[in-house]
Amino acid sequence: HITDQAISAPPIDEKSRFSHSPISPRFGSELEGVTLLEMTDDEVGALKQLGAERGVLVVRNQIMTMDQQAAFAHRLGELTTYPVKKAGALPELLEIHADEKSRHVPGEKWHTDISSEQKPPALSMLRMEIVPGSGGDTLFADMYQAFASLSPEMQLILMRLTARHDPVGHYLYLSGEKTLKELPSQIHPVVRTHPLTGRKALYVNSGFTGKIMEFSRDESRAMLDMLYQHIAHGISFQIRVRWEPNTVVFWDNRCVQHHAAWDYFPQVRHGYRATAIGEVPYLEH
Ligand code: SIN
Repeated sequence: HITDQAISAPPIDEKSRFSHSPISPRFGSELEGVTLLEMTDDEVGALKQLGAERGVLVVRNQIMTMDQQAAFAHRLGELTTYPVKKAGALPELLEIHADEKSRHVPGEKWHTDISSEQKPPALSMLRMEIVPGSGGDTLFADMYQAFASLSPEMQLILMRLTARHDPVGHYLYLSGEKTLKELPSQIHPVVRTHPLTGRKALYVNSGFTGKIMEFSRDESRAMLDMLYQHIAHGISFQIRVRWEPNTVVFWDNRCVQHHAAWDYFPQVRHGYRATAIGEVPYLEH
């Protein structure tokens, strides 16, 4: 079922000030002729709006230092900060690295970034410096279409529900900086309204969502499993981004989930992610 919400989404936003080509008709765009470091404030505002509409924005050939990336990311909003572990590291940038010694890589399941926060992330900005000869793509799934492609009855049920998000995938827990008890869980609506588009997006993810509050444990598990299957098998609302050195990708965590493919072991993949803090999720009926 594709409901009105999905069909009424324009295949491409003709009003945008950027020239961009769709990766799929309703989800993801590659921006052309853009130099991020030369953007005016109006252009950064337009980038955030286009990110909310298209979900994922890919910008190639953006040569910048870590300081320049952090300075640009500050223009997206208040940033999440990360523990600085190495000389030269910046608190605004999370290192994304895999090589022949890696035993896991970050983001190897469908998730949105740190949804256990009271104000979970809005845009993430990932810039790659070193990429494998092939592989290492990031997969993205559109949560507007994930919601819109459920039956109208299921949509109505989901819009009445809230879910608890636990910090089990939190970088501070995974890195051993904090215990689960030291990090809060949060309850968010299962469907949220994106403040920049007014559209509804499914907001549960297998990285963080622990339980649907209004359901028994078994009911919650069954509903979450059904939704995770819907997202994982939703080929018609997924895209896959191929990285090159100096590719920057923005994704809007309010309406997008992502999954890093680790199919390139033992090759090296290296980059930095900055994450802008969003607002408390809400649903407008
Ligand atoms: C992440 O932010 O989950 C990592 C994504 C990636 O490495 O492609």
